[in-house]
Amino acid sequence: MIVKNAKVLLGSELVELEARIEDGVFKELGRGLRGDVEYDAKGLILIPGLVDLHAHLRDWGLSYKETFESGTSSAVAGGFTTVFDMPNTSPPLTSPSRVRERIESARGRIYCDVGFYATPKGPRDVKGLLDAGCSAFKVFMHKPLEGEDYGDVERIRELMAEAERYEALVAFHAEDPKLISGSEDTVESHAKAHKVEAEVSGVLKVLEGMGGARAHICHLSTARALSLVEEAKGRGKRVSFEITPHHALLDDSTEARVEPPLRSRMDRERLFSALVSGSADAIATDHAPHSLEEYLGGKASGFPSLEIALSLFLNEVNRGRIGLGTLIELMSRRPARLMNLKKVGEVREGFVASFSLIDLKREFRIDPSSFFSKAKYSPFEGRLVRGKVMATFIRGELVYEDGEVVSKPIGRVIG
Ligand code: DOR
Ligand code: ZN
Ligand code: ZN
Repeated sequence: MIVKNAKVLLGSELVELEARIEDGVFKELGRGLRGDVEYDAKGLILIPGLVDLHAHLRDWGLSYKETFESGTSSAVAGGFTTVFDMPNTSPPLTSPSRVRERIESARGRIYCDVGFYATPKGPRDVKGLLDAGCSAFKVFMHKPLEGEDYGDVERIRELMAEAERYEALVAFHAEDPKLISGSEDTVESHAKAHKVEAEVSGVLKVLEGMGGARAHICHLSTARALSLVEEAKGRGKRVSFEITPHHALLDDSTEARVEPPLRSRMDRERLFSALVSGSADAIATDHAPHSLEEYLGGKASGFPSLEIALSLFLNEVNRGRIGLGTLIELMSRRPARLMNLKKVGEVREGFVASFSLIDLKREFRIDPSSFFSKAKYSPFEGRLVRGKVMATFIRGELVYEDGEVVSKPIGRVIG
């Protein structure tokens, strides 16, 4: 197949060219290529498929919130061709047999590629979970899934020493449970309970316990914790971090229940500047769908973001606040590298032809009622944004076009 008249970012320049795709791979990029099957991408920019390090696809006992089908439809509609699923499922992903079971249950039901995080109950579980096919580990410091306890440095140290033997990435929800206190009934009290100090202390514990292992800080939300992580990176620590659309683009003037909570305007601006400067490793969605009743009733935190994350940031590209190249680095190439995905995250000859075509000028209003996600609410509701995904391809096959998922669930499990 040939994709013709697409613009591709080469260096810092958009160049119009054709892409010849064979066996799901970019075989040739150049001008004037012709073929039997052609897809005309006139006026559109071809970007590498996005990689989300942080999504909750739910399914299983939480299928009323999201399923593999609805979550990955949401992903391809938003330009994501690979997502990594979080292990706070029901039941949770804490044993090799559950990892194998989850991999089996996802097969044939996913529209994009999916990898799985698992949570080790202790260091001795690390090897078995990796052998079962998980891509990385996730530690919920403040809300253990099944009695595991990583609230203090010693427990973190033991886990990280074992993870280091396998070069495994360990992602942390770094909020120190000892510093979370108070009522969480309302959005306001919930945010107060999840104070800045809880994140700062959580991050300090990770940095202290990680040794030479690979640690990843999820959804960094405060300027203070950000400085600590940047400084540790400067010292050569193998620590990476992600920033979510909501923490980079919203602050506590918006009412939304999420963990960690929306912070001050100063925090938001500092996080955004870490994206622009390149000190951040990734933009990750933390797509966290719930039923509207649970969310509004204060029983759950988080909201769906896969479908809108790219558009929210393309809008910032249009406003001149971040470069398109930087954005794509943060949403595709760098997260792909962190997860050791081979030949993924770049539009380049020999690379996997999973990609999207975007219209950088198309304007629309965010309308959660049209989400593929089962969770049809968003703190970004009503926001006018410019920049939209028009089509998404997985290994050269069209999966999403113009508001519709058009293929079978052809995604693969990573594992
Ligand atoms: O807001 C959140 N929602 N934060 C988390 O850490 C978990 C997530 C969820 O699973 O809903
Ligand atoms: Zn989290
Ligand atoms: Zn999460």
